[in-house]
Parts: sequence; structure tokens; C-alpha cells
Amino acid sequence: MTTLTTTSDADTDASPDSSPTDGDNTTTLRLRDLHTTFSSRGLTVHAVRGVDLDLHPGEITVLLGESGSGKSVTAKSIMRLYGANASFAGTVVLDGRGDLLAAGPKEMLSVRGPEIALIPQDPSAALDPLRRIGAQIVEVLRQHKAVPSRAAAKARALELLGQVGIPDPARVYRSFPHELSGGMRQRAVIAIAVSCDPRVLIADEPTTALDVTVQAQILALFRSLIDRMGSAVLLVTHDVGVAEEVGDRIGVMYAGRIVEYGPAAEVLGDPRHPYTRALLDSIPTPGVERGQLRSITGQPPVSGELPPGCAFAPRCPEAHDRCRAADPVLVDLPGRRLAACHLLTDDPDDTDTDTDTDSTAGPDSTAGPDSTGGPDSTATETSVETPAPAGEESAA
Ligand SMILES: Nc1ncnc2c1ncn2[C@@H]1O[C@H](COP(=O)(O)OP(=O)(O)OP(=O)(O)O)[C@@H](O)[C@H]1O
Ligand code: SF4
Ligand SMILES: [Mg+2]
Repeated sequence: MTTLTTTSDADTDASPDSSPTDGDNTTTLRLRDLHTTFSSRGLTVHAVRGVDLDLHPGEITVLLGESGSGKSVTAKSIMRLYGANASFAGTVVLDGRGDLLAAGPKEMLSVRGPEIALIPQDPSAALDPLRRIGAQIVEVLRQHKAVPSRAAAKARALELLGQVGIPDPARVYRSFPHELSGGMRQRAVIAIAVSCDPRVLIADEPTTALDVTVQAQILALFRSLIDRMGSAVLLVTHDVGVAEEVGDRIGVMYAGRIVEYGPAAEVLGDPRHPYTRALLDSIPTPGVERGQLRSITGQPPVSGELPPGCAFAPRCPEAHDRCRAADPVLVDLPGRRLAACHLLTDDPDDTDTDTDTDSTAGPDSTAGPDSTGGPDSTATETSVETPAPAGEESAA
């Protein structure tokens, strides 16, 4: 289970910097106040701005949001897959061990693959075009798993190819990547990713390059593999349909932050943040005519040029003066949900709300355990840790 954690949850956890997790203490990966900044040629991009997230075994947590919201950077920062122009702050803790952000290169090499594996959007980029699929799987197995012999590694590779729904493992084993369809290539990449039984799987838009039918097959496969393996999964997507299909929890990202978090069905069924509502209003839904869809006006902010106050304010139909003065913090909502919006904490009877231009209000001033309770009087400030069947698809 993956969780953005809350202060009320934290009361149940003895560790001072940890947050509880929906009653489940089996956190596999814990991100705390993760910041990722890129600097080049005098420009600074603050791509991730304080993300807390807990990933739990057997659960798929989805990071959902528009292009540029910081989903991929959050996911790849976990593995530190960036060059020297990236700097990180915060902590990333796997299985309660040391902070991966402080780990040396050798330790990171032993983590990437065997402990935390990545399934990228484009399977071609993950495969060596000059080597057969089988050789690539065998290499990973021999490097990271205690397989006694090459023959044993081959047998395991064939087994893995069968497990990811490839109808003819022996043929695919002998194939080069270009000899396979996109869906088959993605299955091969998934086979490599799961070959070492990773504790954490990160999937960055794993089905975006595939057509709808193959996408559905891959998502079903993904779900069944996770159910069987028990890995903790972070899945990045801009596609609400994908989030709905496989997500257990959803963190909605905007401008480098998680602005809403909770169980997938509840976030999608009853969104509490205006950005989540706008995102859902902009996608086709059965029974809703295309002409009734509303696109989100304006553009997401450029990371280096965030507006004061709430980053969504310039596009938010519900923005008021307070939004432009103070940055809302995530607050606990009933049902172990979190959202960062002044509407959830401001007092609706406070008629000054819309005209409040008190720019001295700090980012936390509208939320907290002492909040007078707004539209959602149970809201309390949070520390946010967040929080195919074989044969359906043929090789080319
Ligand atoms: N290597 C990098 N160097 C500098 N800036 C980067 C780098 N990678 C990402 N960014 C910037 O960080 C911000 C977040 O990017 P990110 O790739 O996380 O977006 P995303 O939410 O994954 O979007 P998409 O859906 O388009 O993949 C963007 O402004 C992007 O331009
Ligand atoms: S804080 Fe204000 S601008 Fe931001 S999402 Fe809420 S209502 Fe909109
Ligand atoms: Mg991305």
C-alpha cells in the first residue's frame, strides 16, 4: 500500500521522522521532503518541491498529472538517474535502511535493478538493439542473482518470458528487439525488470507508446505480476484511464508537488482539489458528450517561474485573493485523504476570505489542527509523507 502520510497517522509511529501509513507499517520505500533541482547555464528548475510518499508491498501508487508536473523527475530521483546538473534534498529510504540520496555510486549500482527496477515508457530505449532478448535477460540474472549456471539462467529467462504472457518464449528468447512488436518488446522489458524480484518497481508511462488493446493487456499483466510478486510500485502516468485501471492510490501532481492524494476510487470518484476536478473534467467519460468536456485553461507554470501563493491559482476557477498570497499545505481529510487547497480549510462564514489581501499570511496559516474548520471541518494539517493472455498479441 502506498501512502501519503498524515500527522494523525504519525501518532501511531514511534519513529520521529516517519509517518504512519494507513495502519500499515510495512513501508517498502519512504520518500520524505524530496526536492530535485536542475541547474544549467544559469537557469535553475525546481522540478520536485517537497514530495513525501510511502510505497507498500503489493500496491500500485500512481503519480498523475499534466506534462511537466514533475512525475518522472520524482520517480527517477528515487534511483538518482540524473547527471551532475541535478541536485537532491530530502531522504529516500528503502526497507528502513540508509538514505539512497546519500549512497555512493557502488551502492546505487547494487540497488538499481535488483532492488529498484525501472520500466520506461519506450521499451526500445531499455533494450540493447544489437543483442538477443534472451542474452539480455541472462546477463541481468547472472549479474544479480545467484543462478548456478548459464543453463539455469536460460531456463529462468524462458520461464520469465512465459510469465509475462509471451506465447512463444523460445522464439522471443532468440529474437532481436527489432523483430518484436511494441507490445512484445514491452513484455520483454517487464521480464527483465522483474527478473531479480525487485522490492520496488517504477513504471514511467509504461503503456503510453502502445495501442489501446495492447495497453489493456499490459496493464492486466502488470497487475497480476504485482499481485503475485508483492513489489511496491510507483506508476507514472498522465492518463486518468490508466490510473483508474491499476491504481490503488493516486497522488495528483502539480508544479512539482502532490496536491491531492488518496485511495484511487475516492480521488477519481470524489476529487477534492480543483486541479483534480479540472483534470477529470477534461477527459472523455461514458455518457458525456465530447462537446461538454472542459479543457484546463492556461498552461502549467514553468518550474523556475512559479506564481506566489498557490501554483494553480492562475488557472483555478475557484481562486480567491488568499490563494495568491499563501501557498496551501496538504491537510488530512476524512478517509485517509489529503489535499492542498484553501477551500478545504478556510471558514466559509468568513466573508473576508475573498477580499483578504493580508500577504503576511504564511503558507501554513490556513491549515492546521487549530483550524476553525472550513467546508471540511475534519481537515487537519498533515506532514505529508506521502505521501494478456498469451497469444492475444503476436510478435512482429
Ligand atoms: N534533466 C533535466 N534537466 C533540466 N530540467 C528537467 C530535466 N528533466 C526534467 N526537467 C524539468 O522538470 C520539470 C518536470 O519534468 P518531468 O519530466 O518530471 O515532467 P512529467 O510530469 O514527467 O511530464 P511528462 O508527462 O511530459 O513526462 C519540467 O519542467 C522539465 O522540463
Ligand atoms: S488554493 Fe485557491 S487557487 Fe489553489 S486550488 Fe485551492 S482554490 Fe484554487
Ligand atoms: Mg514524464
